[in-house]
Amino acid sequence: MTAKTTLGIFGLGTVGTGVVTLLGDNPQFEIRAIAVRDRAKPRDIDLSSFEVTGDPFKLADDPKIEILVEVAGGVDPAYQVIKRAITNGKHIVTANKELIAKHGPELFDLANRHNVTIFFEAAVGGGIPLISTLHRGLQANRISRVAGIVNGTTNYILTKMEREQKSFAEALGEAQAAGYAEADPTDDVEGRDVAYKIAILSSLAFQAPIEVEKVYRQGITAISDLDIKLAAEFGYRIKMIGLAQPGVGDSGVSLDVRVHPMLVPRHHPLAGIEGVNNAIFIKGSAVGEIMLYGPGAGRFPTASAVVGDIINLASAIKLPDFARYFQLPISSQVSDIFPIGETTNAYYIRLDTEDSPGVIGNLGHAFGEHGVSLHSVLQKHVADDAATIVLLTHQVKEKQAQAALAEISAQPTTRQIGVVLRVLS
Ligand SMILES: NC(=O)c1ccc[n+]([C@@H]2O[C@H](COP(=O)([O-])OP(=O)(O)OC[C@H]3O[C@@H](n4cnc5c(N)ncnc54)[C@H](OP(=O)(O)O)[C@@H]3O)[C@@H](O)[C@H]2O)c1
Repeated sequence: MTAKTTLGIFGLGTVGTGVVTLLGDNPQFEIRAIAVRDRAKPRDIDLSSFEVTGDPFKLADDPKIEILVEVAGGVDPAYQVIKRAITNGKHIVTANKELIAKHGPELFDLANRHNVTIFFEAAVGGGIPLISTLHRGLQANRISRVAGIVNGTTNYILTKMEREQKSFAEALGEAQAAGYAEADPTDDVEGRDVAYKIAILSSLAFQAPIEVEKVYRQGITAISDLDIKLAAEFGYRIKMIGLAQPGVGDSGVSLDVRVHPMLVPRHHPLAGIEGVNNAIFIKGSAVGEIMLYGPGAGRFPTASAVVGDIINLASAIKLPDFARYFQLPISSQVSDIFPIGETTNAYYIRLDTEDSPGVIGNLGHAFGEHGVSLHSVLQKHVADDAATIVLLTHQVKEKQAQAALAEISAQPTTRQIGVVLRVLS
């Protein structure tokens, strides 16, 4: 009988519990120890046959552990524990998007130097086999776009707002009650979670790391049910999108990577993604357009990806010098990201104005001055002397649109610029 692959599991929350359950009594593996923060906490599984420790560094130092499975989350102490484990010659399986987005290049380099590997399939898209698709399946392609709905919480909120005419606050409350949003939902609704994920996808698709702090982010908190209704009148649905594509900006060739809500044309495959599901749309030079779709979170979908990594790694470590085969084709050179002003988009703009003669003319003049051409204009009266005006523009550089909006904002007939959203082309 072949020797069992020995594992240390760091974290026994939603995902860790799923991982231990899926591994069950699989004769191929031996869980040597599990690290948790609070050993007295009641658990969903029987731990009597496992060694449970409060110190994750013990796993990193245990010479009998071959694979450290990190499902604790956050940077501290996961970053230090993983570095120690790599230095001690252990392979890593992690679900930690924040860690990979912030420290991936450094950890991959450390792993290469110690001839071990890091697998992170669960870090983006939960149960969807996305990392392996980009890393292996699409190697023959030049990728020209990755656009994803990779945050279930915001997609659930936007779906509720659209389907049940709920306000943002009501939909968020329901997401929290259903366990789809944290008590502090900031990372989700302000786009930080998507930024981590699109940074990882961008580095795989374009084979160069980016600095996640430089990724432009706009959250969904300013979107109203009115925007969702108006977008539908124009033939669009509003979705929170992580976008990565190569391009040429004022400063030369670099990457256009950003996170913001977008109007997605109703016929686009991403428009149909509802609730907590995730979907990632990829354009490749040879394959054309593909979309991967499925559950982006949850105990067993995420554990499916983690345990898949463990099984793949366990078969590979039996082979000589296998780690090189799994090295990621990511350069050590960090790629520049466009400033948002240099991106090109069509825009949806909702603003409140006085309902007086000449308002539309004033708007048209400001847009014309800055080279912004209008596609459609819709005027809604909300009171005797006030109007809501909604405009769709043609494609234009963001800085031109912003200059026009600055001028409009200063016009005496403008009450407020409500929301400005980009349109997915
Ligand atoms: N939940 C999902 O659906 C999902 C989907 C995709 C990816 N992920 C990623 O998977 C990872 C885990 O997420 P999760 O939802 O399972 O988190 P979770 O439910 O909060 O569980 C975290 C676990 O880590 C343990 N832990 C945290 N800090 C520790 C420390 N300093 N020492 C020892 N143990 C520590 C906790 O111990 P206690 O139990 O004692 O508190 C808990 O068992 C994260 O990176 C997350 O981004 C999650």
